[in-house]
Amino acid sequence: MAISVKINKSTQSRVKDVDFENIQFGTIFSDHMFRVDYEDGVWKDPQILPYGNISLAPSLSALHYGQAIFEGMKAFKNPEGGAQLFRPLDNFKRMNLSAIRMAMPEIPEEIYMQGLKELVKIDQQWIPTKIGSALYIRPFLFATDDFVGVRPSKTFSFIIFTCPVNSYYPKPIKVIVEEKYVRAFEGGVGFAKAAGNYGLSMLPTQEAHKKGFDQIIWTDGREHNFVEESGTTNLFFVVGDTVITPEIDGTILQGITRDSCIKILKNKGYKIEERKISMKEIAEAYDKGLLKDAFGTGTAAIIARIELINYKGKEMILPPVEERLISNLLYDTLGGIYTSTVEDPFGWVVKV
Ligand code: COI
Repeated sequence: MAISVKINKSTQSRVKDVDFENIQFGTIFSDHMFRVDYEDGVWKDPQILPYGNISLAPSLSALHYGQAIFEGMKAFKNPEGGAQLFRPLDNFKRMNLSAIRMAMPEIPEEIYMQGLKELVKIDQQWIPTKIGSALYIRPFLFATDDFVGVRPSKTFSFIIFTCPVNSYYPKPIKVIVEEKYVRAFEGGVGFAKAAGNYGLSMLPTQEAHKKGFDQIIWTDGREHNFVEESGTTNLFFVVGDTVITPEIDGTILQGITRDSCIKILKNKGYKIEERKISMKEIAEAYDKGLLKDAFGTGTAAIIARIELINYKGKEMILPPVEERLISNLLYDTLGGIYTSTVEDPFGWVVKV
């Protein structure tokens, strides 16, 4: 069922002031945003309005108790100049899984999809076309009750804004295996895109930066042995001719880029295993010369090649990027599907 979205267009676009060649991730915001509020069990007044500050009560429960979730997805231009989205329904479904875990109302599909499509259409001149760039889309839902008691909020706001971006990691990354802090535990919120999952990563990542690393590899909360995910990505390792990625077990994010990589590789006949993988196994593979590739996958990062892994002080140096069969194949195939320059046998692309 189509919904009616009120449109309040900005009087003047800021797009001409943007230097699309030199965009720093997450610093430039497009002209408009979509907003819908939830009150008395009803989603009210869906609207597109100029991107700008919003007024919040100091007692807003999202700020105090973290009842806040988000998504990340991207829009691209196809060769005909049309705007298109990559797997938006998968993001929508994941957002509602996060909402359920955080005791928030699920967003109706027609509101999410129509708001998203109309927003991207209205700001389509903001979609960059350089390889590796995209219009990053940030939907988020947060609790708005001005009440400081701890209970699920009764009111919420759902907003989508967009920003033109280049790759999240401009070059291959150096990572260190985290053995002190824990990201998630069974029964926790590790699978959800809850704001707090990212807040808790900041101190360990800051400590890693001080030691000269770009990111950390999270390990399981019991033994710090099994690989979970990295800062903003899921992880893949290529051992011999087998691609291995940690299984989805409730503690890691069900990455849509992760799932796309698995499907692309299976479709091309590669051996791929979704299972527990220990750092010990990776270190042993490295010692035998079998660790051919390691990379993170995520909407923002796309494919982040890992250049070096530090595990208990042992430095594992990965082959040069030009020699990486799997991560290069995935980067090129995904990039091609995003922009419809490579066939999309999976039906992932949705035109707006
Ligand atoms: C994404 O890849 O969309 C993410 O959510 C990572 C983000 C925290 C930059």
